[in-house]
Amino acid sequence: MDSFGFQPHTLIEPFRIKTVTPIQMTSQRQRTAALAAAHYNLFLLPAEDVLIDLLTDSGTGAMSAAQWGGMMQGDESYAGSSSFYKFEQSVQEITGFKHIIPTHQGRAAEHILFSTLCNPGDVIPNNFHFDTTRANIEANGAEARNLVIAEAYQPTFLHPFKGNMDVDRLQRTIADVGPERIPLVMLTVTNNGVGGQPVSLANIRAVSDICHSHGIPLFLDACRFAENAWLIKQREPGYADHTPLKIAREMFKYVDGCTMSAKKDGLANIGGFLAINNDEWAERFKLRLILIEGFPTYGGLAGYDMEAIAIGLQEVLQEDYLHYRIQSTAYLGDKLVQAGIPIVLPTGGHAVFIDAGAFLPHLPQDQYPAQALSIALYQAAGIRACELGSVAFGRRLADGTDEPAALELVRLALPRRVYTRSHLDYLVEALAYLAHVSNQIRGVRITWQAPQLRHFTARFALM
Ligand SMILES: Cc1ncc(COP(=O)(O)O)c(C=O)c1O
Repeated sequence: MDSFGFQPHTLIEPFRIKTVTPIQMTSQRQRTAALAAAHYNLFLLPAEDVLIDLLTDSGTGAMSAAQWGGMMQGDESYAGSSSFYKFEQSVQEITGFKHIIPTHQGRAAEHILFSTLCNPGDVIPNNFHFDTTRANIEANGAEARNLVIAEAYQPTFLHPFKGNMDVDRLQRTIADVGPERIPLVMLTVTNNGVGGQPVSLANIRAVSDICHSHGIPLFLDACRFAENAWLIKQREPGYADHTPLKIAREMFKYVDGCTMSAKKDGLANIGGFLAINNDEWAERFKLRLILIEGFPTYGGLAGYDMEAIAIGLQEVLQEDYLHYRIQSTAYLGDKLVQAGIPIVLPTGGHAVFIDAGAFLPHLPQDQYPAQALSIALYQAAGIRACELGSVAFGRRLADGTDEPAALELVRLALPRRVYTRSHLDYLVEALAYLAHVSNQIRGVRITWQAPQLRHFTARFALM
């Protein structure tokens, strides 16, 4: 008998911890003072005042011994660095694209893409634009249009692929706007803005067919491609026996290029890339790259960063890792549901999203319930989450009022390989406590905001 038939149900981290960073609890008084000093914007808090930091999964992961070892081999040559060729090979093996353009992070890839291909008055459809994507499109005078399926806006509606694009709306958009004013269409996998929800291969194929029949290129915002591949394996009929690499390759097969933040599924602390097949675009992108990032064999990166990404991209597709990663999110989601906390269902990839509108029904949208809940979570328990509601996705109109977001979400983003199950249990306990005292949570108003990406720097006051 090889294992006595043992079928474990306990989710364990598939790694041993070799280096640790101490974290420390602050007192309620300290946190209250820290919040006031940060103008109630959690982006403005010093990280050392945070106990568990779920602000983002971007660049906050722990690297493996293999990645740190690889970094020692970084080749810092200005041109033709051997680290670039390893990086290029690793990206090509997964994406199949011919031209790999390294950038210092995802938004630099977006900047190069949109500043090269977009003209004022153009429209860029996406399932759901992330904030930096939208800002880069708007900075070029174009419109960023969200065409995610309607189910994505119903937090408790169970649908396996809530990140899918509504193909009828895409067709209508192309007919209304005209293909000549749509330089490209994007699909964000997974869909960060509305719940870390995956996009199915059937949807990628359908969107690709529509785009290509009109001569419009399709790009993936591929930040979380491996998590999307794993969710396809789990949820889409016909893929259960495929490896994550095989599924990822198929995802990239139907598109003309991708932007990538290696700070997510590159398992690195910094980095990104733009990848395409088209030779003419590649020349234009590289000219822009040289202007704003660096020479094409390093872009915005050090040689050692490219080594870390080359290895991270392979590790992120390992089944043990992806099982643990997606099950951690599900574990947290299940516990929150058991505690009666309203979350976006089903849980997706990198984060659990709390429906702050349902959590704090006494707060109207113009009192920013998702921001109010994030503040309360920090104040009560030292946990930093991220508002993805009307602060991040709403906008100030010319008459001084706000156009609210469709949903008021608080994102609990899980850094990769950083926190253990007991950290998640503490988080659940804190949120269950806040649910009991939710009527004491006060709304906020904005006292100052920047014209773009306001959530990073806005200042708030408690109502
Ligand atoms: C879906 C998506 N696209 C683009 C980006 C931008 O990447 P970066 O932060 O590396 O600039 C992010 C970052 O969170 C993201 O989640």
